[in-house]
Amino acid sequence: MSPLRLLGRWTGFSGQDSVKEEEFNPRVHLNYVPPQKKITMQDLLLNQRSTASPIAGTTPFPLLSPKGVRAYRKALFQQDVLDKCASSPFPGTLVLRDAVKLSKFIRDFWTHPETMRIVSEASGVPLEVVMPTEIGHTNIQVEGTTIPEMTRNLRVEPLVEKVELSPEDRAYDPLTDKSSIIPWHYDSYPYVCVLMLSETHGMVGGETYIRKGDGEAQKVEGPQIGYAVMLQGGEVEHLAARAKGVKERISTITSYRSKRPNVYDSSYITNVRPYADLDSLYPEWAQYRLRKLRDETTHYLNKVEKGSGSAFQREELESIINQQIDYLQRTARQMVPPKYQEQIQEKYGKAAYYDAFRIWETVQSLPEFERLASSTDQNRRWMPESVYWMDLQQSIERIRMGKPPDSTSRNHPWPNSRKYYMGDELLGQGLNEVFLDWLESSGLWDLYCKR
Ligand SMILES: [Fe+2]
Repeated sequence: MSPLRLLGRWTGFSGQDSVKEEEFNPRVHLNYVPPQKKITMQDLLLNQRSTASPIAGTTPFPLLSPKGVRAYRKALFQQDVLDKCASSPFPGTLVLRDAVKLSKFIRDFWTHPETMRIVSEASGVPLEVVMPTEIGHTNIQVEGTTIPEMTRNLRVEPLVEKVELSPEDRAYDPLTDKSSIIPWHYDSYPYVCVLMLSETHGMVGGETYIRKGDGEAQKVEGPQIGYAVMLQGGEVEHLAARAKGVKERISTITSYRSKRPNVYDSSYITNVRPYADLDSLYPEWAQYRLRKLRDETTHYLNKVEKGSGSAFQREELESIINQQIDYLQRTARQMVPPKYQEQIQEKYGKAAYYDAFRIWETVQSLPEFERLASSTDQNRRWMPESVYWMDLQQSIERIRMGKPPDSTSRNHPWPNSRKYYMGDELLGQGLNEVFLDWLESSGLWDLYCKR
């Protein structure tokens, strides 16, 4: 140990130690108390998929001790992490991704068997992290407009200073106000843990609303500092209300899927592509998808090998294979070529990307809609060689057979009342950037902009 650091130990002088992160210790940093209430799918009048957990979400529960919160913030605000992991996808929001690759504390905390046990217990299903890049995605609201301004305002000690609320802030209703921080959506991954790393005293809003089966919105309190909530966000439609009245809001999110084999996995990476580093996202995505395929194939093969002749059931195998074909197809389609992704994002912007569904809804009310969409698809004016045309044909066949089109994302339901277009197919697959490209070549994008 260097003399300076030894000195620091004796005198409390921070010096270099102030930037060095702590070693994760569950006895010091965790403070778990099981959630007081678990909200079931049944409570919400929602149908539970046979393979999913009956738990839709939990009320906030303590997870990190005050020391744990500070150790986490210290790990997160290391200069190296801020330099390499920060982006600002929306004005006023700072995002830190992949801090787990630079911080041992963050990695050890989220992957520790005790933490894994806690999140699995709270969700009612054994979980595993969906992929390393989805460990501790951190959203930060703090003063400042540029990334350096925002990062300069981050301190290890949580800010307690409050912001005076205006009458509009007090009257804010996320259900009627369009400015809810994240509008109604399903998550890209089946399960999520949201952990709060900032003070919430004096905060107004910041809660989650869940859409019940009867259409009513149910409020779930947001977690206070050191607390977490679990949500089956891939199965439950939800909305995040804007938080007001505080100088900083820092939440960190880890996404999970069920560890059980042969459990339908609803994951996709539409929401992530615009701000993720695709060179690290795609290899992780591919590994996770192939690993699941391998494990499920092995699981089935073991069953057949160990069992007698009766263990082999043709129908069962056929159904497993069909599921795996869909699964593999989505695995491939979700990896939109990085150059193409980038070009489209530059051309249309992130707002249009995330707004693709609403744009699609709007163009459907234009008088020229049916004619333009139809002729684009009939004459294949857009990407005539692309594999999406086969996907479209397959969906059209499914519809003919009375089955719903295989939509990966329930955010984009197709209204049964009209023809099924390429726009529906691409949005259904969660390929928002490809959708914008198709929309432009149909002429509908221009009409949308001029309307
Ligand atoms: Fe969400």
